[in-house]
Amino acid sequence: MSTICVIGTGYVGLVTGTCFSDMGNQVTCVDIIPEKIERLKQGILPIYEPGLEEMVERNVHAGRLQFTTSYSEGLDNCDFIFIAVNTPTGSNQGGADMRYVENAARSIAQELDHHHAVIINKSTVPVGSGDVVSRIIRKNLKRPDVPFAVVSNPEFLREGSAVQDFQNPDRVVLGSSDQEAARKVATLYLPLRAPIVITDLYTAEMIKYASNAFLATKISFINEMAQICERLGADVKEVAAGMGYDKRIGRAFLDAGLGFGGSCFPKDVRALTHMADEAGLHPQLLRAVMDINHDQRRLVVTKLTSILGSVRGGTIGILGLAFKPNTDDMREAASVDIVRWITNQGATVRVYDPVATDTGREALEREDVRMEAIIFCKNAYEVAEGADALVIVTEWNEFKSLDMHRIKNAMHHPVLIDGRNIYEASEMKRLGFTYRGIGRGTGPDPSVLPSGDSTSTQPLLSGKES
Ligand code: UGA
Repeated sequence: MSTICVIGTGYVGLVTGTCFSDMGNQVTCVDIIPEKIERLKQGILPIYEPGLEEMVERNVHAGRLQFTTSYSEGLDNCDFIFIAVNTPTGSNQGGADMRYVENAARSIAQELDHHHAVIINKSTVPVGSGDVVSRIIRKNLKRPDVPFAVVSNPEFLREGSAVQDFQNPDRVVLGSSDQEAARKVATLYLPLRAPIVITDLYTAEMIKYASNAFLATKISFINEMAQICERLGADVKEVAAGMGYDKRIGRAFLDAGLGFGGSCFPKDVRALTHMADEAGLHPQLLRAVMDINHDQRRLVVTKLTSILGSVRGGTIGILGLAFKPNTDDMREAASVDIVRWITNQGATVRVYDPVATDTGREALEREDVRMEAIIFCKNAYEVAEGADALVIVTEWNEFKSLDMHRIKNAMHHPVLIDGRNIYEASEMKRLGFTYRGIGRGTGPDPSVLPSGDSTSTQPLLSGKES
């Protein structure tokens, strides 16, 4: 049993602290926002994460997990101090904003007055930041002779499956100039029976960026393939399946769709691009990854207008707001751009998300989307009522087995833009939908044939244009 303090109660901090307490450790989570801590003490979580609420309750009840706003309380006699605060994109051309990490380091330094503590950085920080954290701590120590070590321990968990990911990691990465300290941290993870990579600080920090950038690249790669597939008449889903059997490629993260969002991939690819730029390099692949991702969202508008003509005066149904299923997180969600573009073109939007209605509403308001053009609905069937087209933006499970016959009958025009490829084109066509997935070609796309070859290219909403 170890005594652990976790600074920050966001996704990473709360999941890390709770899971370590569940493994039998004594954990105190510190956050500087008093309301957040107050609510956590009442068992109210700031995020939606499957399985987490029960786990928090269980460990608080067992006396292994507590919450406080006080660094001195949190750091009292603890062996391991995890920094898990956020590093949003800063104002410096995509570079990471290190303010919260630096503040945490200063506050930790003020409280270090006992034995050799190990400070572990879990926040995603620019390569070299571990040294910055060491310097800040050394400069701000209350007692200058207190020994401490800094270890980088990047986090690889995904929102929506964070607890599961914590308990079953593919690997644990630890980097430090103090290998003894890194080995001490490794003991915390031994019960998880995962491979443990011990390396230097800079390499550990780079492993995190390189991993996220690679996964983002896989997504942009398959999205580019999707566009080619669609034009040439191939089905990207089957292409991905066929590619995925090759062990060197793997099937994961080859789902074509509306691209990646969330708090990690866009931010980390931008930050890595910025670091490379600053180092005098020319990170052209990373730039292309972001460009493709941006264009991917636009496809919804292109597809809608190719079928409906203008969307002005029309009603478009949107299924899903969250950046991915099983979360209420709206950060960099494709839905925000899509709803903004559609409403700006004069259409009314009917939306539904199983979990992200409140966070979705806030995000849309923050992004200056025309709220008067948005109707929030209670379920997918309500969204479909009178709609000229339905767009699947987030692949929530409950959207995968809808009564599509009922959906079709509720719609004004049965047009389905399946932004996450959850339905089969042939089945949707059989039901009478005009269906467009992403990269689901079945022979040449009629929309690229010379005009007049396909009735589906006749604009359905041209009469509504003002
Ligand atoms: C991502 C990484 O997967 C985690 O390993 C990492 O720890 C985390 O970032 C982080 O740096 O904190 P997360 O952002 O929670 O996790 O979400 P993912 O499940 O990776 O999905 C990211 C985005 O990619 C979503 O918008 C998803 O819809 C999209 N995606 C994913 C695709 O478009 N296609 C795919 O095949 C997979």
